[in-house]
Amino acid sequence: MTVGARPVRAVLADLARQLGSAGEARWLVEHVSGAGPGALVLARQGAELPGDALAALHELTRRRLAGEPLQYLLGSWPFRGVQLRVDPRVLIPRPETEVVAGYALDELDRAAADAPAACPGEPLVVADLGTGSGAIALALATEGPERIDRPLQVWATDASPAALEVAGANEEAVRRSAARMAPVHLAAGSWFDALPGSLAGRLAMVVSNPPYVSDPEWAGLDATVRDHEPRQALVGGPVGTEQLDRLLIEAPRWLVRWGALVLEVAPHQADGAARAAMVRGFDAVMVRSDLAGRQRVLVARCPAPQDAPR
Ligand SMILES: C[S@@+](CC[C@H](N)C(=O)[O-])C[C@H]1O[C@@H](n2cnc3c(N)ncnc32)[C@H](O)[C@@H]1O
Repeated sequence: MTVGARPVRAVLADLARQLGSAGEARWLVEHVSGAGPGALVLARQGAELPGDALAALHELTRRRLAGEPLQYLLGSWPFRGVQLRVDPRVLIPRPETEVVAGYALDELDRAAADAPAACPGEPLVVADLGTGSGAIALALATEGPERIDRPLQVWATDASPAALEVAGANEEAVRRSAARMAPVHLAAGSWFDALPGSLAGRLAMVVSNPPYVSDPEWAGLDATVRDHEPRQALVGGPVGTEQLDRLLIEAPRWLVRWGALVLEVAPHQADGAARAAMVRGFDAVMVRSDLAGRQRVLVARCPAPQDAPR
């Protein structure tokens, strides 16, 4: 059956009602109408959606109502300054992780200021472990060179080869459009095992948004998350903090003496993670909040060099 053209205004109104969200209706209409003015502009101009776009919209609406995340239907999603391809191989980057990347960039500034002046041309090396779509790594690689006057090198690792394929495609796409971008090395493997041994003791910063949901919490997640996003990206283990603990234990061996570890945590894990960081010998340990004021980010700095000869 062919579908006739319909005014964008009427399509938007119907779709917003069906989805219970005017925002989602706009995103989907803009997706099927291709490049050009936004949906509200099209509506104001009295534009119509042609039959083929309406058929595509109908199918997307069906899938959305069946519970698929909007971001997978659109196939891409913004993260800070970059546009990322996203599909069921990777976690959908979250707004709270944009905040984590912001704290990681602050730590990069500090590391650049604290790094010995003796080797000014040497790159600062940082790692985003469990990079998924590449979100944090690509934010560091694009925003970092604007903030520090030293060369920067970014490692992006993941245990999932499928996730690394997405990260690689995103790295290429972002590099094509970025005015300036640090080199990004992709590597497969579990946490620090993915990195070359030669980087031990040389990382200025390690940042990670590891899986931190417990098995029982996963069972209670919204179906849109539980049934569509990769379990490996969400579940840390029976307790939830297993992967956070591993990172806290292993990081000191990989960081330079002025280095820092930046971790996304669930709010109820923040105090425990801060205590664990102090037990592991980190010096300045801070818990930072996301935009909603929830304790979400652990920032743990290595002891100052004079305090901790290594
Ligand atoms: C919460 S997601 C974060 C993805 C991305 N960094 C972001 O913030 O959107 C966790 C990521 O860690 C990866 N992961 C899970 N276990 C891992 C392990 N043992 N070693 C490395 N990466 C792991 C998952 O594949 C997933 O991509």
